[in-house]
Amino acid sequence: MIEENRVMGIDIGGTGVKAALVDTQTGRMTTERVRLPTPQPATPAAVMEDIEELRRQLQWRGTVGCGFPGLVKSGRVQRAPNLDSSWIGYDLADQLRVQLGAPLVAIGNDADAAGLAEFRFGAGQGVTGTVLVITLGTGVGSAVFRDGVLLPDTELGHLEMRGKLAEKRAAASMRTNRGLSWKKWAKRLNDYLVHVEYLLGVDLFIIGGGLSKKPEKFFPYLRDVGCRVEAARLGNAAGIIGAAMFPRR
Ligand code: BGC
Repeated sequence: MIEENRVMGIDIGGTGVKAALVDTQTGRMTTERVRLPTPQPATPAAVMEDIEELRRQLQWRGTVGCGFPGLVKSGRVQRAPNLDSSWIGYDLADQLRVQLGAPLVAIGNDADAAGLAEFRFGAGQGVTGTVLVITLGTGVGSAVFRDGVLLPDTELGHLEMRGKLAEKRAAASMRTNRGLSWKKWAKRLNDYLVHVEYLLGVDLFIIGGGLSKKPEKFFPYLRDVGCRVEAARLGNAAGIIGAAMFPRR
């Protein structure tokens, strides 16, 4: 493996901060995945401490790619719905550069990261048409692709359905927090996917997040969706692998 292909991929989530070193040519993690729980409150300083600890565990001084659960423009956080409000305006790129001693840092939306990884190395390989990668975790993330080209920073988890944000009904966290049965929760996901398919004429949904490892639990209930639905092939690792791809784009 050529050393310059290695990047530390960081996936900041609402419940966990995860990282690994990734070979961006093969999409393989070259270390184990390290993880710390997202601190509460999830302030920038507390999350940066986690990231610094993960960097130490991976013994890395080099290029860093980071997936963020919100909107980041020119390295600065614009929106962070599932983290502390003090993130707004935070210069994440600069802080990662300084605190991690990283020569090169690139940041993007966490669902876009997962989508890029699935397109390059997973369920999206070679797929044309309109493909939506939907990540189910603390929130609902979306990555929209047309013929393999990403339209970045979409927020389709924030569509309103039945007077509520879709992610407040269909996120994976809603099932566990509300103690919903798989069937009851999957019915909500079914309705959400039907709605999105109608709006965008989707050809394929790729469902990501930790749940993608258990499709048998809920795929049978996604009966009304008028297009193909597949599980992410890289599972939850897609967020880390795709984050590592940001600096190489
Ligand atoms: C955020 C998205 C993010 C998703 C998954 C949503 O609440 O608005 O930007 O991709 O959660 O983390």
